Formats: sequence, structure tokens, C-alpha cells
Amino acid sequence: MHVAVLMGGWSAERDVSLSSGKGVVAALERRGWTNVTAVDMDRNVAQVLAAMRPDVVFNALHGTPGEDGTVQGMLDLMQIPYTHSGVTTSAVAIDKQLTKAVLEPHGIPMPPGKIVETKSLYKADPMARPYVLKPVDEGSSVGVAIVTDESNYGSPISSDAKGPWQDFDRLLAEEFIAGHELTVAVLGGEALCVTELKIANGWYDYEHKYEEGQTVHVCPAEVPDDIAERMKQIALDAHRHLGCKGCSRSDFRWDEARGMDGLFLLEVNTQPGMTPLSLVPEQAAYRGIDYGELVEKLIAEALA
Ligand code: DAL
Ligand code: MG
Repeated sequence: MHVAVLMGGWSAERDVSLSSGKGVVAALERRGWTNVTAVDMDRNVAQVLAAMRPDVVFNALHGTPGEDGTVQGMLDLMQIPYTHSGVTTSAVAIDKQLTKAVLEPHGIPMPPGKIVETKSLYKADPMARPYVLKPVDEGSSVGVAIVTDESNYGSPISSDAKGPWQDFDRLLAEEFIAGHELTVAVLGGEALCVTELKIANGWYDYEHKYEEGQTVHVCPAEVPDDIAERMKQIALDAHRHLGCKGCSRSDFRWDEARGMDGLFLLEVNTQPGMTPLSLVPEQAAYRGIDYGELVEKLIAEALA
């Protein structure tokens, strides 16, 4: 069995993907797989895979084009099975606005928000502060800004202010949900656990996600049972309604002061991180599935 582990690429999450991919390769080698090839994706990926003809691709890519259906479409045409979700699911889930359009009609609570043109931010706030500005189709909090009353961006945002929104023409503006940052992984039709991310200062941004010691992961989270159960049910429903395969990870915020009404799904990740600090491997471990077994389960599902 020849496994090609696709990683890297040219998205803003290239480094995260290299970390995920290297973890996957090392785990397969530890478990005695002898025919594993790491592929750092470049624009010749189709030719590279055509020459290699692997039996299966482990997709360790994050962001565009490995998480948005493009690579999935290429692999479908080449008739190479691959881990994680397919074309349509990936294309919808990478886009936070499309995800809302699919999930909200099913009663899944997501923060109120709207799409704004970046240049309009300099004329007026798109909604009452505090709010969050995010690119519709990035991961790992790349490009995300939290605009508060105290923010030094100005009010409205000054055209001289420098901010992560600058690289994007259109953004999603969403009500900022105060309180807890939580996440739930789904694997093999089961919601694994709820993890809370606790941060002393700031929020769960790129640095807090990938630099050791920046964030405390509480798994299982110390939240009331009814909140944990509701989160797991939402993660399962979102996984199913979007048609996810392999695993997904649903990210939430919970404003404790509002009780159950303060729980909101932020997004569903179809290519969740597999780095040493990533949350799906941690939740799998909590359920007795080590990293290598997790990788093998995803490959087995791809081949089923
Ligand atoms: N986008 C990163 C890799 C994650 O969801 O874990
Ligand atoms: Mg994401």
C-alpha cells in the first residue's frame, strides 16, 4: 500500500500543513508502513501524482486549494482515493458564509453577521462593537481582527489603521461572542469530546494556536453537561448536514451569561490540524485512539 501524504502548498497555512504532514508521515513510519511518500505540493502536483500513482492520498493540506475542493476534484478525476471530505463539502465548509447558509436553516445557532467590502469599513462600522472581522475562507485565524470600543483602529476604522483585514477585499463581520472558546471533533460518526481553550491574555489567534505554552487545553472542558451535550449534537449535525467524511472539527463560542442561548457554532473545519498542538489528535487520545491509529482510521475510511 503506497500512501502519499500531501502537505505544504502555498496557502497562508503552509507551515501548519507541513507540521501536520510530517506528523502523519512519522506516525505511519512508526507503525511499520514502508511505502509512504511526503509530497510538498507545488503547481505540478497533478504530474507528480500521475507519475507516482499512490494507492491513497492522506490529505494534510490546510487552506486553499487543499481544503476548498480543488485538490479533491483533481484526485477524483485521477481516481485516487483520499482522506477527509470530498469536493462539495470542502467547497462549502471553507466558506464561512456558505456554511451558514447550509447550517442555519437546520436550526444550528451561528453568530449574526454580514459580508462587508473592506473599503466600507473606513466609512462606518458594519455593526455594533465589539465585532469580529474575518476573511470568509482562511483558517488558523489568519486575517482575523476583533474590533472593540477600546480598539485603537479608530471609530470608524481609520483608513490609516493597519490591520489583518488589509489583504482581503471582502470580509465577514460577525457579532463578537464573549466568553468561552470551545471545540468538538467528530470521527467515525461520533463526537469525541469538548475541549476548552484557555488563554491568559488575548484570544486564540495564530500564535496561541501553534506556539507551545500559549494556551491551556482543558479536555474534557469543565462546562455544564447540557452545554457539552448540545455542542456534541451540533458538531454531529453540522458534520452530517455538510456531508463531511473522515473527521471534522467544529469550533464554538459560549457566552455563559446567556446560558444555552449564548452557544454559537463559528465554523466547521474539514481539514483540522494534525500538529503536535492540534485538537483532533488530543481528543482522539482522550478517547483511547493514539495519533497513529487516528491516521490509520482516516486512511481506512478513504479506502472503504
Ligand atoms: N485550520 C487549522 C489547520 C485547523 O482547523 O486546525
Ligand atoms: Mg478554521
